Amino acid sequence: MNIIDTIHQRYSAGKMKPEPVSRELIEKLLDAAVQAPNHYKVRPWRFVVLTGNGLNQLGDVMAESLRARFPDLKAEALNKERAKPLRAPLIIAVGVDKPTESKVLEIENICAAAAACQNILLAAHSLGLGAHWRTGDAARDVRVKKFLSFAEDQHLIAFLYIGYPEVMPEPQDRVGFEDRTVWMEK
Ligand SMILES: Cc1cc2nc3c(=O)[nH]c(=O)nc-3n(C[C@H](O)[C@H](O)[C@H](O)COP(=O)(O)O)c2cc1C
Repeated sequence: MNIIDTIHQRYSAGKMKPEPVSRELIEKLLDAAVQAPNHYKVRPWRFVVLTGNGLNQLGDVMAESLRARFPDLKAEALNKERAKPLRAPLIIAVGVDKPTESKVLEIENICAAAAACQNILLAAHSLGLGAHWRTGDAARDVRVKKFLSFAEDQHLIAFLYIGYPEVMPEPQDRVGFEDRTVWMEK
Protein backbone atom coordinates (compact mmCIF):
# COMPACT_ATOMS: atom_id res chain seq x y z
CA MET A 1 0.00 0.00 0.00
CA ASN A 2 1.53 3.33 -0.92
CA ILE A 3 1.57 6.21 1.56
CA ILE A 4 -1.15 8.22 -0.21
CA ASP A 5 -3.51 5.22 -0.11
CA THR A 6 -2.64 4.62 3.54
CA ILE A 7 -3.46 8.23 4.41
CA HIS A 8 -6.77 8.10 2.56
CA GLN A 9 -7.83 4.70 3.88
CA ARG A 10 -7.05 5.26 7.58
CA TYR A 11 -10.13 5.65 9.76
CA SER A 12 -10.51 5.55 13.52
CA ALA A 13 -11.45 2.05 14.61
CA GLY A 14 -13.99 1.34 17.34
CA LYS A 15 -13.86 -1.69 19.60
CA MET A 16 -10.91 -4.00 19.10
CA LYS A 17 -10.70 -7.77 19.50
CA PRO A 18 -8.92 -8.98 22.66
CA GLU A 19 -6.20 -10.60 20.52
CA PRO A 20 -2.88 -9.07 21.62
CA VAL A 21 -0.60 -7.02 19.39
CA SER A 22 2.82 -8.65 19.23
CA ARG A 23 5.88 -6.97 20.69
CA GLU A 24 7.38 -6.97 17.18
CA LEU A 25 4.46 -4.94 15.81
CA ILE A 26 4.46 -2.56 18.79
CA GLU A 27 8.13 -1.87 18.17
CA LYS A 28 7.39 -1.23 14.48
CA LEU A 29 4.79 1.35 15.52
CA LEU A 30 7.21 3.07 17.87
CA ASP A 31 9.92 2.97 15.24
CA ALA A 32 7.54 4.70 12.82
CA ALA A 33 6.68 7.27 15.49
CA VAL A 34 10.25 8.42 15.95
CA GLN A 35 10.71 9.11 12.23
CA ALA A 36 8.60 12.26 12.72
CA PRO A 37 10.14 15.67 12.14
CA ASN A 38 11.16 17.56 15.29
CA HIS A 39 12.78 20.97 15.56
CA TYR A 40 16.32 21.04 17.02
CA LYS A 41 16.17 17.22 17.10
CA VAL A 42 14.93 17.28 20.69
CA ARG A 43 12.82 14.12 20.22
CA PRO A 44 10.14 15.56 22.52
CA TRP A 45 7.87 12.49 22.49
CA ARG A 46 7.45 10.11 25.39
CA PHE A 47 5.58 6.84 24.98
CA VAL A 48 3.99 4.68 27.64
CA VAL A 49 2.98 1.27 26.30
CA LEU A 50 0.04 -0.22 28.19
CA THR A 51 -1.08 -3.81 27.78
CA GLY A 52 -2.51 -6.50 30.09
CA ASN A 53 -2.80 -5.37 33.68
CA GLY A 54 -1.43 -1.96 32.72
CA LEU A 55 -4.80 -1.29 31.06
CA ASN A 56 -6.68 -2.33 34.22
CA GLN A 57 -4.49 -0.05 36.29
CA LEU A 58 -5.08 2.87 33.92
CA GLY A 59 -8.83 2.20 34.16
CA ASP A 60 -8.65 2.26 37.97
CA VAL A 61 -6.78 5.57 37.91
CA MET A 62 -9.21 7.07 35.37
CA ALA A 63 -12.19 6.02 37.50
CA GLU A 64 -10.58 7.39 40.65
CA SER A 65 -9.78 10.67 38.87
CA LEU A 66 -13.35 10.95 37.63
CA ARG A 67 -14.63 10.35 41.17
CA ALA A 68 -12.30 13.08 42.47
CA ARG A 69 -13.67 15.51 39.87
CA PHE A 70 -17.31 14.49 40.41
CA PRO A 71 -17.64 13.03 43.92
CA ASP A 72 -21.39 12.37 43.54
CA LEU A 73 -21.11 10.10 40.52
CA LYS A 74 -22.79 6.70 40.76
CA ALA A 75 -20.84 3.44 40.63
CA GLU A 76 -22.20 2.74 37.15
CA ALA A 77 -20.52 5.84 35.70
CA LEU A 78 -17.26 5.03 37.48
CA ASN A 79 -17.33 1.45 36.20
CA LYS A 80 -17.90 2.74 32.67
CA GLU A 81 -14.84 4.96 33.00
CA ARG A 82 -12.82 2.08 34.47
CA ALA A 83 -13.65 -0.09 31.47
CA LYS A 84 -12.63 2.47 28.84
CA PRO A 85 -8.99 1.38 28.44
CA LEU A 86 -10.17 -2.20 27.92
CA ARG A 87 -11.59 -1.26 24.51
CA ALA A 88 -8.25 -2.26 22.99
CA PRO A 89 -5.48 -4.71 23.95
CA LEU A 90 -2.89 -1.95 23.54
CA ILE A 91 -2.78 1.74 24.39
CA ILE A 92 0.20 3.91 23.63
CA ALA A 93 -0.01 7.07 25.75
CA VAL A 94 1.96 9.94 24.25
CA GLY A 95 3.39 12.77 26.31
CA VAL A 96 5.43 15.80 25.30
CA ASP A 97 8.64 17.03 26.89
CA LYS A 98 8.71 20.62 28.11
CA PRO A 99 11.50 22.61 26.47
CA THR A 100 14.64 23.01 28.51
CA GLU A 101 16.31 25.55 26.20
CA SER A 102 14.90 28.96 25.32
CA LYS A 103 15.19 28.38 21.58
CA VAL A 104 12.90 25.33 21.81
CA LEU A 105 9.21 26.21 21.78
CA GLU A 106 6.58 24.12 23.54
CA ILE A 107 4.19 24.44 20.60
CA GLU A 108 6.81 22.97 18.30
CA ASN A 109 7.39 20.05 20.65
CA ILE A 110 3.64 19.42 20.68
CA CYS A 111 3.56 19.55 16.87
CA ALA A 112 6.41 17.03 16.65
CA ALA A 113 4.75 14.65 19.12
CA ALA A 114 1.47 14.94 17.20
CA ALA A 115 3.34 14.06 14.01
CA ALA A 116 4.69 10.99 15.84
CA CYS A 117 1.11 10.06 16.76
CA GLN A 118 -0.01 10.30 13.14
CA ASN A 119 2.94 8.13 12.11
CA ILE A 120 1.70 5.50 14.58
CA LEU A 121 -1.85 5.67 13.20
CA LEU A 122 -0.63 5.31 9.62
CA ALA A 123 1.83 2.54 10.48
CA ALA A 124 -0.92 0.70 12.36
CA HIS A 125 -3.19 0.89 9.34
CA SER A 126 -0.50 -0.35 6.98
CA LEU A 127 0.21 -3.28 9.34
CA GLY A 128 -3.44 -4.37 9.35
CA LEU A 129 -4.21 -2.92 12.77
CA GLY A 130 -6.95 -0.51 13.78
CA ALA A 131 -6.22 2.55 15.88
CA HIS A 132 -8.08 5.40 17.54
CA TRP A 133 -6.57 8.59 18.95
CA ARG A 134 -8.43 9.55 22.12
CA THR A 135 -7.91 12.22 24.76
CA GLY A 136 -10.78 13.47 26.95
CA ASP A 137 -10.61 14.90 30.47
CA ALA A 138 -8.51 11.95 31.63
CA ALA A 139 -5.66 13.14 29.43
CA ARG A 140 -5.59 16.42 31.33
CA ASP A 141 -5.97 14.94 34.78
CA VAL A 142 -2.92 15.22 37.04
CA ARG A 143 -3.56 11.82 38.64
CA VAL A 144 -3.56 10.11 35.26
CA LYS A 145 -0.39 11.97 34.26
CA LYS A 146 1.28 10.94 37.52
CA PHE A 147 0.34 7.28 36.97
CA LEU A 148 2.01 7.47 33.55
CA SER A 149 5.10 9.17 35.04
CA PHE A 150 4.40 12.49 33.36
CA ALA A 151 4.83 15.80 35.16
CA GLU A 152 1.73 17.83 36.03
CA ASP A 153 2.61 20.53 33.51
CA GLN A 154 3.53 18.10 30.74
CA HIS A 155 1.02 17.65 27.93
CA LEU A 156 -0.43 14.18 27.50
CA ILE A 157 -1.67 14.49 23.94
CA ALA A 158 -2.92 11.02 23.09
CA PHE A 159 -4.17 7.69 24.19
CA LEU A 160 -3.69 5.68 21.01
CA TYR A 161 -6.00 2.68 21.23
CA ILE A 162 -4.65 -0.04 18.97
CA GLY A 163 -5.65 -3.59 18.07
CA TYR A 164 -7.41 -5.76 15.53
CA PRO A 165 -10.82 -4.13 14.98
CA GLU A 166 -13.95 -6.16 15.65
CA VAL A 167 -15.47 -4.39 12.65
CA MET A 168 -13.36 -2.65 10.04
CA PRO A 169 -14.18 1.06 10.15
CA GLU A 170 -16.47 2.23 7.36
CA PRO A 171 -14.95 4.85 5.03
CA GLN A 172 -16.45 8.28 5.84
CA ASP A 173 -16.70 11.23 3.52
CA ARG A 174 -14.03 13.76 4.38
CA VAL A 175 -14.39 17.39 3.45
CA GLY A 176 -11.81 18.53 0.92
CA PHE A 177 -9.12 21.12 1.33
CA GLU A 178 -10.68 23.77 -0.92
CA ASP A 179 -12.47 25.89 1.73
CA ARG A 180 -9.42 25.81 3.97
CA THR A 181 -6.93 26.84 1.32
CA VAL A 182 -5.89 30.14 -0.19
CA TRP A 183 -3.62 30.11 -3.23
CA MET A 184 -1.24 33.07 -3.28
CA GLU A 185 0.42 33.85 -6.55
CA LYS A 186 2.56 36.85 -7.24
C1 LIG B 1 -5.96 15.49 19.33
C2 LIG B 1 -7.07 14.51 19.07
C3 LIG B 1 -7.88 14.12 20.11
C4 LIG B 1 -8.93 13.21 19.90
N1 LIG B 1 -9.70 12.82 20.96
C5 LIG B 1 -10.72 11.95 20.76
C6 LIG B 1 -11.50 11.53 21.86
O1 LIG B 1 -11.28 11.90 23.01
N2 LIG B 1 -12.52 10.67 21.60
C7 LIG B 1 -12.76 10.20 20.34
O2 LIG B 1 -13.71 9.42 20.16
N3 LIG B 1 -12.00 10.56 19.29
C8 LIG B 1 -11.00 11.42 19.46
N4 LIG B 1 -10.20 11.80 18.41
C9 LIG B 1 -10.41 11.16 17.08
C10 LIG B 1 -11.24 12.02 16.16
O3 LIG B 1 -12.54 12.19 16.67
C11 LIG B 1 -11.27 11.34 14.79
O4 LIG B 1 -9.98 11.33 14.26
C12 LIG B 1 -12.20 12.10 13.86
O5 LIG B 1 -13.52 11.82 14.19
C13 LIG B 1 -11.99 11.76 12.40
O6 LIG B 1 -12.20 10.40 12.20
P1 LIG B 1 -11.12 9.52 11.44
O7 LIG B 1 -9.95 9.38 12.39
O8 LIG B 1 -11.82 8.21 11.18
O9 LIG B 1 -10.75 10.24 10.20
C14 LIG B 1 -9.16 12.69 18.60
C15 LIG B 1 -8.32 13.10 17.53
C16 LIG B 1 -7.29 14.00 17.78
C17 LIG B 1 -6.40 14.40 16.62
